[in-house]
Amino acid sequence: MSDQDHNGQLYIETVGCQMNMLDSELVVAALRKDGYELTDSPKQADTVLFNTCSVREHAEHKIYSALGRLKYAKRNKPQKVIGVMGCMAQKDQDLIFSRAPHVDLVVGTGQLAEIPRLIRETRDSDSRMQQKAVSLGRRDGSVLEITGSFQSYDPLRDPEMRPTPFQAFVRIMIGCDKFCTYCVVPSTRGPEQSRPPSQIAQEIRVLADQGVKEITLLGQTVNSYQHTENGRLYRLADLLELIHETEGIERIRFVTSYPKDMTDDLLQAVRDLPKVLRYLHVPLQHGCNEVLKKMKRGYTVEDYREMMQRIKATIPDCSVSSDFIVGFCGETEEAHQLTMDAVREFRFKNSFIFKYSERTGTKAEQRFPDDIEDSIKRRRNNEMLNLQNSISEEDNAEFIGQQVSVLVEGPSKSAVKQAARDTEPVAGKSLAAQLMGRSECDRIVVFNGNPRLAGTTAQIQVDDCTGTTLIGSILTHEVQHGSCDVLPILS
Ligand code: 5AD
Ligand code: SF4
Repeated sequence: MSDQDHNGQLYIETVGCQMNMLDSELVVAALRKDGYELTDSPKQADTVLFNTCSVREHAEHKIYSALGRLKYAKRNKPQKVIGVMGCMAQKDQDLIFSRAPHVDLVVGTGQLAEIPRLIRETRDSDSRMQQKAVSLGRRDGSVLEITGSFQSYDPLRDPEMRPTPFQAFVRIMIGCDKFCTYCVVPSTRGPEQSRPPSQIAQEIRVLADQGVKEITLLGQTVNSYQHTENGRLYRLADLLELIHETEGIERIRFVTSYPKDMTDDLLQAVRDLPKVLRYLHVPLQHGCNEVLKKMKRGYTVEDYREMMQRIKATIPDCSVSSDFIVGFCGETEEAHQLTMDAVREFRFKNSFIFKYSERTGTKAEQRFPDDIEDSIKRRRNNEMLNLQNSISEEDNAEFIGQQVSVLVEGPSKSAVKQAARDTEPVAGKSLAAQLMGRSECDRIVVFNGNPRLAGTTAQIQVDDCTGTTLIGSILTHEVQHGSCDVLPILS
């Protein structure tokens, strides 16, 4: 074995969105090729990486506290390399070194390919050096220069690094040009850039050969995808059609969509391509037109309603989920009630609800005071959550007595917790466990079954539900290691 085969132990902590999960997966894969082994102890690790999120202040606090906890570990072991990567690295840059002087590396979202080299250089240097690799700010150069400084990081994949062997994220675009006034993403992830369709299709073929059955296409505004290749313009509908051909891929979903770019051809593609799941994540963000305008979302509630009508008319069994921000600058009680009305009207499958968090450098921070008290934000957040939960539970109840087709992912969260509590293995216990998977409309389904069913498709009879989960029993499942034949088994 060469020296390079012994680069020591790597600890990585990831917060934030699916894009960050994918970035971490890819960085870990690259470092494993360099001879690193994963550990779950940040204190013992030789290299510690934090993949960070800046969308809300809370996520940043978590990272600064985690960094604080490593101060003494670094003092005791000065050769330990500590790196901050991702959105916070791009946004805070030198501020990270001044708030946490024991950090060695700051690497922005557009520079991830540099990480193995930077760690190596830090480790090899005799005197301690802090290194920074970040992209340009959105006003720090020509469009071409700024765009070029944000590189999409999509190296070849390491099958071992995926959360499950049969599911994978695939990035189809990076960045965002929508500039919603509250949001840091356009500066932390740079200008919108779509990857060439041939490259995406090739990556998906490799993944399919490795056994992946379900892919999730990622983009901050995934339905704004467009790329011209060999004289042909590909938009998301065309890309879906192209990758739909990939043998072995059974399910395709895409997140997150931007309401104004939800074109008819895309909805028709979702309707006509059987592998594409009947699920759209299209954040409304607010139910009051004045607030939407202040957020610079670029649509009104009426526009959103028209989009929802087109979705329902084209794909009647499609479920839609949303994000909302409560307590945005100047939000009145009336405005909040309009958001509650929108939740009642649109009956989302689920909603992610966030308290507004003022972000440095955004238009909202420069223009509007963050004037809604935290207690009010919290109350509005809870009201929204309760309303959404009761709607989700009512709509989930409609599935009771029906069959849903589920890709089995593995043990459910509660089964995993239970297994962690059971120190003594019980004979025969592993034969049946509570499993979970998702339906074609992205609903979480739990049922009892053999853990070996993970990665297969099962038909589940829904017997009960909560606001977040359908509870059922297996009717039939796919033959393992075989074709897609469906065998009846006793339920
Ligand atoms: N404060 C609170 N929530 C935010 N989001 C984006 N920026 C902020 C912010 N400053 C939410 C939006 C977005 C989701 C990913 O995070 O709802 O859709
Ligand atoms: Fe942020 Fe708006 Fe872009 Fe979404 S569309 S990433 S909320 S700027």
